[in-house]
Amino acid sequence: MPFIIAIDGPAASGKGTIARALASHFGFHHLDTGLLYRATGAKGGDPIAAARGLTPDDLARAGLRSAAAGQAASRVAAIPEVRAALVEFQHRFAAQEPGAVLDGRDIGTVICPDAQVKLYVVASDEVRARRRAAELGAEATVMLVELRERDRRDSERATAPLRPADDAVVLDTSNLTIEEAIRRAVAAVERVRGGL
Ligand code: DC
Repeated sequence: MPFIIAIDGPAASGKGTIARALASHFGFHHLDTGLLYRATGAKGGDPIAAARGLTPDDLARAGLRSAAAGQAASRVAAIPEVRAALVEFQHRFAAQEPGAVLDGRDIGTVICPDAQVKLYVVASDEVRARRRAAELGAEATVMLVELRERDRRDSERATAPLRPADDAVVLDTSNLTIEEAIRRAVAAVERVRGGL
């Protein structure tokens, strides 16, 4: 049975960095599920048709990391049929041996509720805005508004809202270096693997 690590949390909490590091540490596959929603939003036209017809080329499209693409992703992600169209791909990805790390908003709650490890990564709004500003070369004050708007939409939507699974380990990265955050995430996984 593959080992599944589900990582959820708001934008710029550090979940992507932690997910990549865990995948490389344990030799697991990694899927940034936000990219599926970003690619769907960037395709334009009917978002349901866009989600159903996503291709590898769509996922490689330039500009998917921009703040505008994040907002478009958050909007199409509130449409239940869009989410439904992306479920099977995520399930197939998670079924790969020897294991997989998936990061997003609903991995521990909806996509992989039986994941062996669930992490919910958070950081203060100000820290997240500073990180995103440095990453995109933008103003932190503008990023703060953008992140809060996206978090609100992602948390308040009716289908698969952003929230921690009841059995998730919460990791607050506000005052942690990247190395320390990764060390704690690896330790959380090791605790479970040691008990198997
Ligand atoms: O993780 P990200 O910033 O790339 O995600 C972009 C948007 O996609 C996010 O604001 C909400 C949506 N999303 C989602 O609804 N469910 C996921 N599992 C991943 C992302």
